[in-house]
Amino acid sequence: MPASPIPINLADYERAAGACVEPAAWGYQCAGANDELTVRANLEAWQRIELRYRTMVDVSLRSTATTVLGTPITSPVLIAPTALQRLCHPEGEVAMARAAELAGTIMVVSTTATIGLEEVAASTNAPKWFQVYIYQGREYTRELVQRAVRAGYTALVLTVDAPVLGRRERDIRNGFTLPPGMHVANATNVGMDVVPTATADASGLMRHFRGLHDPGLTAQDITWLRELSGLPVVVKGIVRADDARRAVEHGAAAVIVSNHGGRQLDTAIATARALAGVVEAVSDGAEVYVDGGIRRGTDVLKALALGARAVLVGRPPLWGLAMGGADGARHVLELLRDELDLAMALSGCRTVAEITPDLVAPPS
Ligand SMILES: Cc1cc2nc3c(=O)[nH]c(=O)nc-3n(C[C@H](O)[C@H](O)[C@H](O)COP(=O)(O)O)c2cc1C
Repeated sequence: MPASPIPINLADYERAAGACVEPAAWGYQCAGANDELTVRANLEAWQRIELRYRTMVDVSLRSTATTVLGTPITSPVLIAPTALQRLCHPEGEVAMARAAELAGTIMVVSTTATIGLEEVAASTNAPKWFQVYIYQGREYTRELVQRAVRAGYTALVLTVDAPVLGRRERDIRNGFTLPPGMHVANATNVGMDVVPTATADASGLMRHFRGLHDPGLTAQDITWLRELSGLPVVVKGIVRADDARRAVEHGAAAVIVSNHGGRQLDTAIATARALAGVVEAVSDGAEVYVDGGIRRGTDVLKALALGARAVLVGRPPLWGLAMGGADGARHVLELLRDELDLAMALSGCRTVAEITPDLVAPPS
């Protein structure tokens, strides 16, 4: 047990959050695909990078502030889209949106939210982005995007690493499904909001997604979404330079180097190792962000040194939400921001622009 009752880092939150969530829901949040090797690889790849810190720089005045797609944020850490947030807290996505506003950052709201996108948007004045899954029969996706535009979302995040759902074996073992009274709120109007019960070989969520996601998704869909919405499109789930280039050629304003937190293709390359190649391929034409296994301010510093403009965190804000609603999630984001500030001071960086590639030795 830690001496302090208040978590002082993200690992404390992870340890304590499990007791605040139903076991099968906790399994869903932790889960990776199959042997969960990529979940671990993401974490370890950041840890393995060593810092060549700078000294003899006056770091008395520092700022972690930056912008993403022109929007100012207090630190380069965004909230990644994560589904089903009411599993953590009754106020779910609304509390998470409040946390983003309090912390001065952007929340990416998932298609698979448990509170409707309009209600989440109305709960905060902060800018927010909407994550899009392309479903079969484009009519539902078209309608969803038009609703997001009307509700005031300022960018779309198209997830491209889930043409089908990865096999999360914990969820199968736990017979994971949504508890009574909880549903996929954005799909209510088309009758696809109910998550079925689990079977011996498929979780409720796997059954929900089966036959819903469009495995025919291509780069043309980036252009389609851009024209349909008039919003910048951020493409999430890229680990290759050629895919990043293709995304930008089709109109992406930014790409997220991501393997879905290890939840899709197990043994996929760790994002820390994929980042530099993507940056080299597209950073002239698009912003590059990264997620997967970011748990320390030093991880954020390393990501920026490798060329990311910002990072996203998926599981950590869920731990905060589970433990303390909006305030818990805000605290998680503030811990990361404060750790980044400290890492910057100790590396001779006064601004995020001073976090340059020479600060890191390449990941092995
Ligand atoms: C519980 C959970 C639900 C997720 N739901 C979505 C989702 O709805 N859409 C999406 O694009 N990514 C989803 N992701 C992936 C995250 O956006 C992000 O890529 C990943 O969590 C980053 O890794 P991290 O959790 O190690 O920070 C989810 C991840 C988790 C853990």
